[in-house]
Amino acid sequence: MISMECPSMNQELFKQGAEARIYKSSIFNKPCIVKERFLKCYRHPTLHKKLSDKRMIQEARSLVRCHTIGVRTPLVYHTDLDTHKLYLELLPHPLLNDLISSLEAREQQSADITDTIRDVGRQIALMHDNDVIHGDLTTLNILVDIKSGDSYFIDFGLSSVSSLSEDKAVDLYVLERAITSSHPKMSQLFTDILTSYAQYSSKTAKTLNKLKEVRQRGRKRIMIG
Ligand SMILES: Nc1ncnc2c1ncn2[C@@H]1O[C@H](COP(=O)(O)OP(=O)(O)O)[C@@H](O)[C@H]1O
Ligand SMILES: [Mg+2]
Repeated sequence: MISMECPSMNQELFKQGAEARIYKSSIFNKPCIVKERFLKCYRHPTLHKKLSDKRMIQEARSLVRCHTIGVRTPLVYHTDLDTHKLYLELLPHPLLNDLISSLEAREQQSADITDTIRDVGRQIALMHDNDVIHGDLTTLNILVDIKSGDSYFIDFGLSSVSSLSEDKAVDLYVLERAITSSHPKMSQLFTDILTSYAQYSSKTAKTLNKLKEVRQRGRKRIMIG
């Protein structure tokens, strides 16, 4: 058993999400982020503990699984179930969401991020071929190393393991909705991601057929309200 170094108490609030606070800190003399799931006032404390334990364990498991199969994710440095804190490698990269927004604002073509978009499709194909379902695939959960164009995936709290093409199609549909609703002028980007996904995934046909069904269901739901 490796003895645990106590993480630095200096924690600077970095981001505040709906379910978690993200702090910048350090552990083992390395910069890290600490993801702390906090108590929601409308939730019973016991239910909260169960839910946040489940999400934290799932997040850590999927991050490790992704790392093993070669999907770019932050390293897991430490998990602390008592305090609901996950210590992860700090990735000093901007969000894909912000990159797309800045292209949109400058009315620039998506050509600037062609390699990144291809990489996003390839990474999702790798995840899905290994039955990892992200569960919240949005452009806020993808970071991009501007120099190399490499994409990194974060936020696996809602992830699962499944071989069902339905689950993979829903993952893709969530990303499609995220891109078309946040960046309506850049919806071509999703088509490009899908082209790359189809090129790299070994089980594409079934998933893409399911995606058509999922889209139709989604449209009906929007029409009915
Ligand atoms: N490992 C990381 N390195 C750098 N920034 C991160 C990292 N993990 C999370 N973030 C930042 O914190 C934000 C929220 O983290 P996330 O894991 O997506 O939590 P939430 O469940 O609140 O969405 C991300 O959008 C990103 O900006
Ligand atoms: Mg997130």
